[in-house]
This record gives sequence, C-alpha cells and structure tokens, in this order.
Amino acid sequence: MNFELPILAPSILAADFSKLGKDIEDAIKGGASWIHCDIMDGHFVPNISFGPSVVKAAKKAAPEAFLDVHLMIENPDDYVENFVEAGADLISVHYETCPHLHRSIQNIKKYGLMTGVVVNPATPLSNIEPVLADVDLVLIMSVNPGFGGQSFIDNSYNRLRTLAEMREEKELSFLIQVDGGVNLKNIKKVAKAGADILIAGSSVFSAENITARVEELTAKLK
Ligand code: DX5
Ligand code: ZN
Repeated sequence: MNFELPILAPSILAADFSKLGKDIEDAIKGGASWIHCDIMDGHFVPNISFGPSVVKAAKKAAPEAFLDVHLMIENPDDYVENFVEAGADLISVHYETCPHLHRSIQNIKKYGLMTGVVVNPATPLSNIEPVLADVDLVLIMSVNPGFGGQSFIDNSYNRLRTLAEMREEKELSFLIQVDGGVNLKNIKKVAKAGADILIAGSSVFSAENITARVEELTAKLK
C-alpha cells in the first residue's frame, strides 16, 4: 500500500468500546487510512487490552483501512497466526519480547504481512541494527508501553533523528513509526524529527468530534 507520508494512525486503544465501529468510521471519515491496534497481555506490559476478535471487528468496521497490530505480549510468535486470520496487514513485535528476533520477523513474513520491530524508550537502537534490513517498519515507543494518555518522552526526538540517520547510512527504506503522547501541540515537531507514521490514541478518541480531530491532526502534517 502506498501512503502519502507522514500520516496519522489512530490507536483504537483509546476508542469508546461501547461504539468501536462508529469511532473507527468517524476516524476514517476524517481521512485516517491506517489504524493501530494495541495488543496487551498484562505480562509484558501492566495492562490487558484486547485480542484478535477486536482486530477482526475493526477490519469489519473499516475493510479498506490498513490494520497495524502492535504486539505488547510475551511469546508473540505463538499468536501471529491468530492476528493474520483476524485481518492484520502489519504485525510489529517488541525487541524486548523476542530472544530470537530474526526468526520472529521471518515468522510474520511467511504469511505475506508487513513486519515491524518495536523498541522501548530505554532500549538502544543499536540492539535492532542487525534486523533493520529485514523489517518494513521500526516503531519507537515515546512512552513506556501499557497505557494511552501518557506524556511524550522528550528523548524520543533524538531517537527518531538517530534512526532516520541510520536508515540513510544503510540506504534502507523501512518506515519510522512513533507511539505515545502525540498530540496537537507536538505532532509537527515529532514529524520533523523523522516520524513517517504518527500514532495517536487519546488525542483522537477523546475529542468531541473524532472526524474533525483527525482532520486537524492530519492538517498539521501537511
Ligand atoms: C502504549 C500504547 C499507546 C497508544 C497511544 O502502550 O501503544 O501509546 O498507542 O496512546 P496515546 O496517543 O493516548 O498516548
Ligand atoms: Zn501501540
């Protein structure tokens, strides 16, 4: 899929689950084409969110959307097939949960999906250098994973810039994604630091008018 970068990717973690389909439709109406699904198991992160059935529901609500599934779970290899069947277009796994990261990435690729690797705020970018050529996307966590509504960790700007430099030096083309604490105030600066895909949960779904908020955030990326 071709995207005019940078783009906003609403995270449904912050949606109103009593009307998830409507919230997703409203975000799509505002121009969103990439939906981020935060999967949490209460072990790797101190929160439990949702599983494949909700990803399937999101796919039903927005069949044309690109579904990006962020696995914040232990033993992610064991669940990849479930999320493939649920309709994921991309699956990203945390460096911190994959002792055999190269194999975990191949395990996603074999289903024909796009692959992503995620790093927590304290994980050195050098740790993922050996797999940068194998992934379609690198996700830099700009909050400690587990909850929406947290503040953007300032050092994330430097990490975005460093990752963009690494990509250029190695002449690679993976997408750079950032997740956590992105809002109307900082979105321009986050994109300028090198983010291609900017995830926003609470700043989208806490808005009175979700469609208008997606338009407002997207306009700042133009
Ligand atoms: C953290 C989650 C959140 C979410 C975005 O584990 O991954 O970062 O996607 O949440 P907001 O935009 O509310 O910080
Ligand atoms: Zn996420």
